[in-house]
Amino acid sequence: MAKDYVVKDISLASFGRKELDIAETEMPGLMSLRAEYGEVKPLKGSRIVGSLHMTIQTAVLIETLVDLGADVRWASCNIFSTQDHAAAAIADAGVPVFAIKGQTLEEHWDYLDKSFMFEEGPNLILDDGGDATLYILLGARAEAGEDVIAVPTSEEEEVIKAQIAKRMAASPGWFSKMRDQIKGVSEETTTGVNRLYQLVKDGHLPFPAINVNDSVTKSKFDNKYGCKESLVDGIRRATDTMMAGKVAVVCGYGDVGKGSAASLRGAGARVKVTEVDPICALQAAMDGFEVVVLEDVIDSADLFITTTGNKDVIRIEHMRAMKDMAIVGNIGHFDNEIQVAQLKNHKWTNIKEQVDMIEMPSGNRIILLSEGRLLNLGNATGHPSFVMSASFTNQVLAQMELWLKGDEYNNDVYILPKHLDEKVARLHLDRIGVKLTKLDEDQASYIGVKPEGPYKPEHYRY
Ligand code: NAI
Repeated sequence: MAKDYVVKDISLASFGRKELDIAETEMPGLMSLRAEYGEVKPLKGSRIVGSLHMTIQTAVLIETLVDLGADVRWASCNIFSTQDHAAAAIADAGVPVFAIKGQTLEEHWDYLDKSFMFEEGPNLILDDGGDATLYILLGARAEAGEDVIAVPTSEEEEVIKAQIAKRMAASPGWFSKMRDQIKGVSEETTTGVNRLYQLVKDGHLPFPAINVNDSVTKSKFDNKYGCKESLVDGIRRATDTMMAGKVAVVCGYGDVGKGSAASLRGAGARVKVTEVDPICALQAAMDGFEVVVLEDVIDSADLFITTTGNKDVIRIEHMRAMKDMAIVGNIGHFDNEIQVAQLKNHKWTNIKEQVDMIEMPSGNRIILLSEGRLLNLGNATGHPSFVMSASFTNQVLAQMELWLKGDEYNNDVYILPKHLDEKVARLHLDRIGVKLTKLDEDQASYIGVKPEGPYKPEHYRY
């Protein structure tokens, strides 16, 4: 049989497998779902397209979905985030995976296309950032003769359009067929979730979606504590720069910004924050960070990190005003937070993979990490397994919900119920020796909850 995968080097599989075995010991949420549902196989019959960073942690997620009965095909959601040994281990285990660290944008969209090629077509999407969902919806619009919706960067727009045209020529009507047989999507991250809410607002979401990002055990852990560990890891692996004493600017103080600022502070940097939201600005100030506007610190700071999920946050005029050898990176989902496209006609010197030195007209140079793509996955290996276990346990629960009860949902965006959020947290307590206090009946009724939970009302913000 022809090989049904694209990986860098299949001989990396045994190294990948060893790291997978270690990761499993750090992912109690996923492992307990295997123990709970592995026999019953609740996902039997499901055919899941996954578009999410192909890392070791994701490999444990994939094998959990398979253990629960799913057929899975996988692509990465970012050109730099794949861990080639993880992809090799998954391919070696017989799961079709299409992901290489450093793949081109053209390959990115081609691999995504390949991940849809189940014999009978997929029926579920597991997305991170929304590219898989976007591909099908844009393609279906193109088939209907409508204009396609805006995508993150103009460079990417051309590539996506070319890929859609290729698929339309090869298989007329394919996108509409895919759209109609997808039962639902579960979305991993803030940026993808924003896209989904926008689709609902515009009346364009054709199936139910579960917003995994806004499970408390996802965004208040992965986005925050995950970035707290992986941001500095990425900067160090990329530059080996001394961070203690340096001035670092974090743009955005949402969940990722909070983790990122804490990460840099932990490394000894003097951290400043920019924000547009007065609530988050006040939080940053009361957490002890100076809140500034970028223009006031642009020529004095040493490190600039964007965490906003917004576009054009660090612009060309900013980069031209930075001091010599300032480090610039992004940890938000897309590369358009930094105006990288505007740097193309400058002199680039590649230092090593995902690290470039770029010369400004003044002669000053900047160090740009991962070409502006999320640096914790491009320059390092993303978040540690333990925190990803919480995120991915939510993902598996979301896929089960869509597969078993998708028909009961409208074409809208939903969040998993709080009792499942609490279950995900509970599954992670033993591993780190946390002992919970038991609520007695009397106390429970005094605060208006049940002894077994949920413990908080929906409006509680953690
Ligand atoms: P969030 O919405 O909680 O935070 C973003 C913050 O940026 C908000 O407080 C907003 O007011 C602020 N902001 C927006 N425009 C701004 C501007 N021009 N200047 C300064 N601040 C601005 O979102 P969250 O969850 O923190 O996610 C941020 C991004 O990180 C998203 O793209 C998300 O998908 C991505 N993400 C990346 C991860 C990684 O491992 N690299 C992990 C989780 C999320």
